[in-house]
Amino acid sequence: MEFQKLIEKRRSVRKYSPDREISKEDILEMIRAAQEAPSWKNSQTGRYYCVTSKEMSERFRKECLPAGNALKCENAIVIVSTFVRDRSGFKQDGTPENELGNGWGCYDLGLQNANLILKAEEAGYGTLVIGIRDADSIRSLLSIPENEIIVSVIAVGIPADEPKRPARKETEEIVKFF
Ligand SMILES: Cc1cc2nc3c(=O)[nH]c(=O)nc-3n(C[C@H](O)[C@H](O)[C@H](O)COP(=O)(O)O)c2cc1C
Repeated sequence: MEFQKLIEKRRSVRKYSPDREISKEDILEMIRAAQEAPSWKNSQTGRYYCVTSKEMSERFRKECLPAGNALKCENAIVIVSTFVRDRSGFKQDGTPENELGNGWGCYDLGLQNANLILKAEEAGYGTLVIGIRDADSIRSLLSIPENEIIVSVIAVGIPADEPKRPARKETEEIVKFF
C-alpha cells in the first residue's frame, strides 16, 4: 500500500473480530519492521512480549488492564513493549548524555512502535496503543526483568469496526519556521 494511504488509513481500533488467528510469522514481521527504526547509537533497547494464547490473553486482560481497555482488546493479541533502562541516551560510564535521560529509550521505542503498527495495518490488522495499564501486574505476569521499563501495550487483531478519524490540529498551530 502506498505510504501516504497507509498512514491515513490507520486508526485506533477498539473492537476486534474472532474470525482469524494471527500467525506467529505475521507478528514477527511486525517486530522486524519495528527493528528497522533508528535508535540512539543503534542501541536497540526495545523489547516485545507477545501474549497470544487464549488462556494468557484472558489473564492479561483481567489482571493487567482496566475493564474499559480489557473490553476493547477482546479477541486481539497483545504485545507489551519495553525498553532496557539506562542505555539509550546514556554514556558508557552509565551517566545520562543530557537532561532527557531514559526519555531517549522511550523515544526509540515510540519510533519502533510506529513502524510496528503501520506494518500491522499493511497486513490488514487493526491496532490499539494502550497507555492505561498496570505495569506492576504486567511485570509479574510476564516475568519482565527490573532493568526494563514497561511502556505501551499494543493490541493487534482483525478490526470489527471502522473508526472515524479523530480531528487533528491545524498544522500551522504546531509548527514554526525560522
Ligand atoms: C501513548 C498512547 C496511549 C494510548 N492509550 C490509550 C488507552 O489506554 N486506551 C484507548 O482506548 N486508546 C489509547 N490510545 C489511542 C489514542 O486515543 C488515539 O491514538 C487517538 O485518539 C487518535 O486516534 P487514531 O489513533 O485513530 O488516529 C493511546 C494512544 C497512544 C499513542
